[in-house]
Amino acid sequence: EYNFREFSTCEATIQMLQKAAADGVETAFQRAAEMKACPIGADSACCKHCAMGPCRLNPKDPYSKVGVCGATIDTIAARNFSRMVAAGCAAHTDHGMTMLDVFREVVNGRIADYKIKDEEKLRSVAASIGIEVEGRETMEIAKDLYEELERTYTQVEGEIPFAKRVPEKTLETWRKHGIVPRGAMREIMEIMHRSHMGVDQDYENIVKQCSRTALADGWGGSMVATEISDILFGTPKPHVAGVNMGFLREDHVNIIVHGHEPNLFESMIDSVNDPDLIAKAKEAGAAGINLLGMCCSGAEVLSRHGVPHAGNFMSTEVVIATGAADAMAVDVQCIKQALVQMSECYGTKFFTTNPRAKIEGAQHVEFHEHEPRKCTNKVVEMAIERFRNRPGRVVIPQRRDMGVHGFSHEYINYMLGGTFRGSYTPLNDNIINGRIRGVAGVVGCTNPRVKQDWYHVELVKELIKNNVLVVQTGCSQIALAKAGLMKPDAAVLAGDGLAEVCETVGMPPVLGCGSCVDNSRILIACAEMVRVGGLGDKISDLPVAGAAPEYMSEKALCIGQYFVASGVYTVFGVTFPSLEGTKFHKLMFEGLEEMGFGKWGFATDPYEMARMMIDHIDKKREALGIMG
Ligand code: SF4
Ligand code: FE2
Repeated sequence: EYNFREFSTCEATIQMLQKAAADGVETAFQRAAEMKACPIGADSACCKHCAMGPCRLNPKDPYSKVGVCGATIDTIAARNFSRMVAAGCAAHTDHGMTMLDVFREVVNGRIADYKIKDEEKLRSVAASIGIEVEGRETMEIAKDLYEELERTYTQVEGEIPFAKRVPEKTLETWRKHGIVPRGAMREIMEIMHRSHMGVDQDYENIVKQCSRTALADGWGGSMVATEISDILFGTPKPHVAGVNMGFLREDHVNIIVHGHEPNLFESMIDSVNDPDLIAKAKEAGAAGINLLGMCCSGAEVLSRHGVPHAGNFMSTEVVIATGAADAMAVDVQCIKQALVQMSECYGTKFFTTNPRAKIEGAQHVEFHEHEPRKCTNKVVEMAIERFRNRPGRVVIPQRRDMGVHGFSHEYINYMLGGTFRGSYTPLNDNIINGRIRGVAGVVGCTNPRVKQDWYHVELVKELIKNNVLVVQTGCSQIALAKAGLMKPDAAVLAGDGLAEVCETVGMPPVLGCGSCVDNSRILIACAEMVRVGGLGDKISDLPVAGAAPEYMSEKALCIGQYFVASGVYTVFGVTFPSLEGTKFHKLMFEGLEEMGFGKWGFATDPYEMARMMIDHIDKKREALGIMG
């Protein structure tokens, strides 16, 4: 009864949606179609922060009523928005803190399974926040770095360490408005307090603390997650790698890791390469063990090690319908509860691994960083068992898309500058001479309320056609990789100027940077563009823009808010939790820019979105005097 082509443009996903439907199994696409979003909630016109309510205002006439306590639409929307940002920030910072926990144990010599893999990165991160590195032992630097970075979370007064990486003038704007983050825990605590019933009831003041909280993610929790992961597991460099479900192999034991924390994945890589486990797989009749990623930790190991990626957020259910997934191991974030039921239908072994994220009905095999292989070996063994007794028919969509992945900001430096201590000068030069019009970050989730991948792909195509270089992370990156835009030959789809740069350097017009926490790489790239000079003296001067056209999570809203607070025009699609015509909306979509920040934009049409972003880029070019 459904036309699956309206749900997705991903051929593998469409094929598996058909199979799942034929097997009598439903997915989030059908559930979304059947459950209309609440119109009051979607506009953020309801409040449930106390037992005098919940209170519902009228979205069609938002100032006609107030809540029982007297809260206006602006207070209600600002509080709702801030709490979503707080949740998003908490997710990224808790992830970052886990990475820092692993780092501490490595530094203290209490973990044998991980080590400092990228000393160069360790030194450069340490130097960037003022730690002495010359002539010092790696472990001494690492100890200091741990202590410094811990302040990102726990500091109660002062500025988070990575504030040192923020361009001076941008930092001045933050200081002027009192929004330089102290420590993530403090900022999250304060915004939760202030958005409680009867506390902060001035939407402008709420939005200030909301920005401060979001910045504690972008320049804090997320940036620590990225930098520590690079130090422990290696900084990505470009390499050819594949995405899509065709990388499942019928004659292999297939294991999918889906989630966000790279430590689980890194140990799983070790487990699937363990000769004893490979021998066991062969005994069970398999040709070998095949490991794939999904979602963000998948995007990270795709970027770092070239592990194939099976698909983004809206493909995590249907990949199980292939019947080929012998095991799926998940950790935290973006794990649909429905995966348990789906796995039961197809006999896939489904494991939760993180004490923070258990799911009713799932088998929990806890991952401990001190003995990581206990968990990952067990998952492999159970996957081999399932392979031996595969219950049903296996159908693997024959889609395999190759592309170049792994553009860390260090490598973008190198690639454009020609030496490893290169710089963004050539990028700035190409922006100034007009070959490249500007840079756009296109990131974020997929959402079953809109056609999967279509908005990402159409938006990016439109941007590169107009000579805008695109950088990507997360599920958006996987959408474009499936569409074949991460190959150098995709330069034919770019405008003449961008195509010329791509051909000279040998790079694709779309650069994949990794997972959602790796949006911090984009922030650092922006800071570098400012530092190199010629494009103004703060991030809000740069001809750049951001977009998350198919977002769904609170984490995405937090990312959007930290880009806005950093000075970037950021356009979201699907829906936006505010009402046009309200003061809160006006602040977010106009006022913040007047105060020296970036601002929000919203559109549901990808071409309109591209036009808005390009107009903004042109406006910035004009202000810099580099038009034409
Ligand atoms: Fe209603 Fe105010 Fe309570 Fe919100 S805080 S539920 S608006 S009474
Ligand atoms: Fe993510």
